[in-house]
This record gives sequence, structure tokens and C-alpha cells, in this order.
Amino acid sequence: MKQSQENKQPKNLREALQGKLTEKEMQHLITSFDSVGNIAVIQIPKELQRKAKAIGTGLLKVNKQFKTACMVAGGHAGKFRVQPVKVIAGEKNTVATYRESGCVFKVDLGKVFFSPRLSTERFRIAKLIKEGETVGALFAGVGPFPIVFAKHSGMRKAYAIELNPHAFKGMQLNIALNKCSEKVEAILGDVKTVAPKMLSGKCDRVVMPLPKGGENFLREAFIAIKPSGGVVHFYAFVKKEKGIDAALKQVKETAKKQHRKVRILRKEKVRSFSASTDQFVVDFRVLGKNLK
Ligand SMILES: C[S@@+](CC[C@H](N)C(=O)[O-])C[C@H]1O[C@@H](n2cnc3c(N)ncnc32)[C@H](O)[C@@H]1O
Repeated sequence: MKQSQENKQPKNLREALQGKLTEKEMQHLITSFDSVGNIAVIQIPKELQRKAKAIGTGLLKVNKQFKTACMVAGGHAGKFRVQPVKVIAGEKNTVATYRESGCVFKVDLGKVFFSPRLSTERFRIAKLIKEGETVGALFAGVGPFPIVFAKHSGMRKAYAIELNPHAFKGMQLNIALNKCSEKVEAILGDVKTVAPKMLSGKCDRVVMPLPKGGENFLREAFIAIKPSGGVVHFYAFVKKEKGIDAALKQVKETAKKQHRKVRILRKEKVRSFSASTDQFVVDFRVLGKNLK
């Protein structure tokens, strides 16, 4: 009887940690975690760090697909937005195999940025892409946006630009794994230089998933859009008390400088990023150069 109780799969992390953490410790526990295929990633507050192994072991019990539990070992840092992680239980492996919308991705969690939280956005945009479109996939990481687009749209081609060499290599691997090399071209480099050089006036659509500082690359998005017009998907971090207006202003000011007209198609909160910040997406159409 005792044996079967112990093997029973717990409903959630709190249940998995019954008897392992005190009531007081339970109050500090952050019960939400990211699930990246076979790896679970959790934030552990400093009060609980000495219980990291127990928490990791609890996570492995919550979902049988988890083979490794990691804790976040620092904030998203530097221009690559990499978040260090540390294995706390299970297999000593940080390369996750993650499936999304019928695609498979290998992601080395300690070396590249990756978030499963934008999966709905990737699929939403894929469904907006029309037959034959050329897409600029800026800040492409290991390729989730362009690869989901390749799988779920009739686009002609996505040019996927990424600066982090580890992420670029990962993207090349993921393009091969998903057999979409005819539709997705990975480019290693800085959007600031690569977009004007390689994408000028070529794109029907540009996606910009760089919420922190993405506004500094709006000019490059406008440059990439065809003279006949196109659509930009711009992600921005927005202070909760200020709202989306600052991001809209940045779009309109850049449009003016680029002598283009824009129409805002959508401005939606994607998720709450922190207590003070939301992540928004702004979809806007850049009108054709001869249109008023
Ligand atoms: C927030 S992540 C998004 C990654 C990916 N699109 C995803 O959703 O998982 C931003 C990515 O942009 C890359 N990056 C940052 N600055 C860049 C730049 N100037 N040019 C090209 N890539 C850049 C980072 O290395 C990182 O992989």
C-alpha cells in the first residue's frame, strides 16, 4: 500500500513536495515552471535554494515526460538574451527536444534564448501568411517562428537572421530536422547590417520577436518591407501603468522618418512578463509607397 502511494503521480508540484518542504517553505515555492519538452525549468527563490534537489525531484514526478529538472541561475542576460540554467535533478543534459505545432526543435537551454510561451503567436502568424509570401524572420533564435511558418503556411521563403552563433547552429539543425531547408534560410549576423544588405524591399511580412529593445530595429523592419507594402509583427515590453501608447508612437515616428504610411491592425497583450511589465504584439500594415 505504502509503495503504491509513493509511486502515484502527484497532481502538481505542491503535492509532489508534501513532506519534503515545511509549511513555511511551501509559502515561498513558485509553482509555475516552463516545460521545454523533456526538460522542466523552474525559478527557485533564494529562501529555497538549499531545497533545489528536492524541488527538482518533485518536478520529475509531476510529468513523466521530464527527464531533467533545471533551475534558472540568472536573468536573461546580454544581447543574446541567454538565461543560465543549472541541472538540479535527473539526467545531466540541457539540450531539450521540444515539439510545437507538429515541428520538433533541439534547444540547448544554457546557450540560447528559447521560450515556449510564444507558441500561440507563432501559429497565429503562420495562419496569416499568404501563398508565396517572403518573410523576414528577425531575431530568429533556434528558428521556431520561421520553421512553424514553413510547416503551416504557403510562404515562398523566410530569411531568418540570428546573431548568437550557438542559436544559429541550432537553427540550422532544426531546419534540417524539420526538412524545410527550401523554405527557411538561416543567416548569421546582426539585423542592423544584414536586413538593409540582404532584405531591402524584399519582404511581404516581417516578424520581430525581440521585446526588449525591439523598437531600435523598427527602421530595419520598414527597410525590409516591399515598396508595394507588407505587414510587420512587432513585440514590445510595455510598462503596465503606461500601456501600449509609447510603442505605437515609436511605430508612427519610424514610419514618418521612412516616408511610409502605416495602419495598425492589432495591438494585443501577449502575456504578463513581470509584476510591472506586459508583453504586447503590434501588427501593422506598411502601405505601398504610392498609397496615401
Ligand atoms: C527574445 S529572443 C527570440 C528568439 C526566438 N525568436 C524565439 O522566439 O525563441 C531574441 C533573439 O534575438 C537575437 N538577437 C539579439 N540582437 C540581435 C541582433 N542585433 N541581430 C540578430 N539577432 C539578435 C538573440 O541572440 C536572441 O536569440
